[in-house]
Amino acid sequence: MSLGKNGKLIRLSKSCLSVLEKRYVLNVLKKEYLGMGLEVAQFESQLNSFFKRKALCVANGTAALQLALQSINIKKGDEVLVQSLTYLSSFQAISATGAIPVACDVKIDSGTIDLEDARRKISKRTKAIMPVHYAGGVGNLSEIYKFAKKFKIRVVEDAAHAFGSRYKNKLIGTQGDIVCFSFDGIKNITSGEGGCIVTNDKKVINSIQDARLLGVHGDTNLRYKNKRNYKPEVTHQGWRYHMSNIMAAIGIAQLERFETLANKRRKLAKFYDKKLNGVRNIKLFDQDYKNIVPHIYPIRIINLKERNKLIKTLRKKNIEIGFHYYPNHKLKYFRKKNILLTNTNKLFPELLTLPMHPDILMKEADYIVKTLLKTIRSFC
Ligand SMILES: Cc1ncc(COP(=O)(O)O)c(C=O)c1O
Repeated sequence: MSLGKNGKLIRLSKSCLSVLEKRYVLNVLKKEYLGMGLEVAQFESQLNSFFKRKALCVANGTAALQLALQSINIKKGDEVLVQSLTYLSSFQAISATGAIPVACDVKIDSGTIDLEDARRKISKRTKAIMPVHYAGGVGNLSEIYKFAKKFKIRVVEDAAHAFGSRYKNKLIGTQGDIVCFSFDGIKNITSGEGGCIVTNDKKVINSIQDARLLGVHGDTNLRYKNKRNYKPEVTHQGWRYHMSNIMAAIGIAQLERFETLANKRRKLAKFYDKKLNGVRNIKLFDQDYKNIVPHIYPIRIINLKERNKLIKTLRKKNIEIGFHYYPNHKLKYFRKKNILLTNTNKLFPELLTLPMHPDILMKEADYIVKTLLKTIRSFC
């Protein structure tokens, strides 16, 4: 295998599929029942066992967040605290309910929400906080729950990055108020697109079961048996946000392979950490890879000049680099006057994300590190 200029591109992220996913999808195709049915019921039941509580599958992680917020009656005029440094989905899911996403700062060492800043932004209209488990790490989750209890607000965890991560020895999703995952193509497990909501709250479960199927009462249980309701009753706004059997088939295979996939991610992150720790101009995020499964591997380059040019230079050497994320408070749709997010503004120009997926070979990881170290010298 050749690396470098004439080699193949080392992708930033990608779907990593085996014969198992292909076999399960083919089975669904053969049965010619592609919508929500038996496979979705099976995937959900396996997720229930994984989390030891109820998991509901939906079309994507953004839908999971939106339905979670809707299920706790977040609506127009309400406010939800969320870090600006996150994918657009967190903000759009909040604004889809009519509520206002209130942009908060992050902690500089973890990229997770800064509760001191969130505290300053609490108002009478604050109804929930949405902590984002940046890169798979969860920060100080106990403090977030204490904060929510103190201010009597709900917690909707955006755990899109954190499938399989643990906090205080417990899997993310096995505890907490409402926890939302994404299974999009590049996540820790994928179902093509897809996502799920995990909770113990019966009201939330009932609301989402209907809301994902256009609000039709009781349709979920019929769909599980490959049936549907032809005399629907609807009392709430619903969406067409259910998962399909094809998606579930991919998800089932990925869940079976999860330990292998997770270990490869961890091994790669530990390798990067070992090689980059202490290097001048590079700062690493504080992540404990014994407990977390990294979805992305962001680093900080101090005094980085011309990030785009650096990215282009590395692309020419067949390494795809990204940065996560463009802060949402800078976007026109979400911009507000006088928002000062010191850490976010400091972090954003320093961020680079290195390739992270289970198909990266250690030889490629070594090439990435060596090339990065050589290249950044001209950019700091
Ligand atoms: C932080 C975060 N939240 C939410 C989502 C939404 O997930 P999806 O793309 O499945 O809608 C993503 C997906 O990339 C994400 O990174």
